[in-house]
Amino acid sequence: MDCLVINGGATLKGEVKISGAKNAALPLMAATLLTREECVLRNLPNLSDVQFMARILKSLGASVMMSRGTIRVRAKKIEGFGDYDLIRKMRGSICILGPLMGRLNEAKVSMPGGCVIGARPIDLHLKGMRDLGAKVRVEAGYVHAKAKELVGGESFLGGRCGPTVLGTANLMMAATLAKGRSVIHSAACEPEIEDLAKFLNAMGAKISGAGSPTITIRGVRRLGGAEHRVIPDRIEAATYALAGAVTGGDITLRNCAPGHLSAVLDKMREAGVRLQLGRGTLRVLPAKQLRSVDITTMPHAGFPTDVQAQMMVLMLKSPGISIITERIFESRFMHVNELARMGADISIEGPSAIVKGGLPLSGADVMASDLRASAALVLAGLSASGVTRVNRVYHIDRGYEDIDGKLRALGANISREPGQ
Ligand code: EPU
Repeated sequence: MDCLVINGGATLKGEVKISGAKNAALPLMAATLLTREECVLRNLPNLSDVQFMARILKSLGASVMMSRGTIRVRAKKIEGFGDYDLIRKMRGSICILGPLMGRLNEAKVSMPGGCVIGARPIDLHLKGMRDLGAKVRVEAGYVHAKAKELVGGESFLGGRCGPTVLGTANLMMAATLAKGRSVIHSAACEPEIEDLAKFLNAMGAKISGAGSPTITIRGVRRLGGAEHRVIPDRIEAATYALAGAVTGGDITLRNCAPGHLSAVLDKMREAGVRLQLGRGTLRVLPAKQLRSVDITTMPHAGFPTDVQAQMMVLMLKSPGISIITERIFESRFMHVNELARMGADISIEGPSAIVKGGLPLSGADVMASDLRASAALVLAGLSASGVTRVNRVYHIDRGYEDIDGKLRALGANISREPGQ
């Protein structure tokens, strides 16, 4: 297994181009199953999760051509329920449930298990399908949903920790081909949901309200092919912005959507980081003096859970006590023990992490546990003295396109080595 070796201390400078959003790309790719016609998606990131989803579409009988950030999918006929082994391996593959229901009135997908960041139930996805009239059974590790026909209905998708992003995507996709009108209450408001609705509408769907907590879908008889450009990855953008900030650098992000990052940018400013927003660009300038800040993760437009770990590194650089409260996933502090190996002083009290900032960090051998935790370890390595080895780097490759290449172009001393 490859590892990243970082010789810390370089001040990042220059420009970095942000890739298309992984979490938009996966449901968009799944949505191509809703039509027999060809769909084209551009600005796809080159990530293992995206390749995985392409393999899942192929295993369902779709013809898939992928080249340099563009994918052409034609699902003329859907054969079977796909390769269960593949579906089981990637949690994001749950978003084929809605399109299969819309297209075939039947779906069988592997029931995703919990993962390292928390329990990750799918009860709200299943509730959404039932609200459209489907019978849903969970048996021997699979979800089997079936309906004579899907009929529009009213659904409430607010869960214990707020709305569900992929649950909203699934219901929205299935409802495009249901009979009559569906309304999703307490829908997820993430930009990725808005992006999906834009693509579905280009395919001929009639969706309004996406990006707000109430989405209305008027079912249509069929959807056609469409072309769409995936939005920039707001989590990748936030990660690079924080990489600039923790190294006291001066970097400019291109091809990004600063409007999707309000909560993160607000907290970075509060911490003293200077920011200049342009049209599709964001310049990060060094803070005169970093200050401690507190954050609580929330559904959009609150502070995203996917940036919590990376923000912790900025807190480690800011003198004083900062507090992170994680409200979306129950065990998303796996990075804390690894950061401790680098000299970080962080204690966990229930859903909160208390971060004592301003202490020096020094390089160490650390283990990546999940995607965003790994990104945090890379950021910590960039800002620490000495050499940091981030092991199990495949977690990062799931969600960050060419992270070592992009950081090297910004002046970081980082290389990829085969692991032992
Ligand atoms: N939840 C339920 N029941 C459900 C579904 C979710 O209780 O049926 C709970 C979850 O346990 C969690 C909360 O609702 O407490 C929110 O989960 P959500 O369903 O919104 O998460 P998701 O759609 O499975 C997506 C992203 C995650 C991101 C979350 C939250 C993709 C592929 N994944 O997951 O991204 O953290 O939304 O914003 O879009 C990542 O990129 O590193 C990542 C984990």
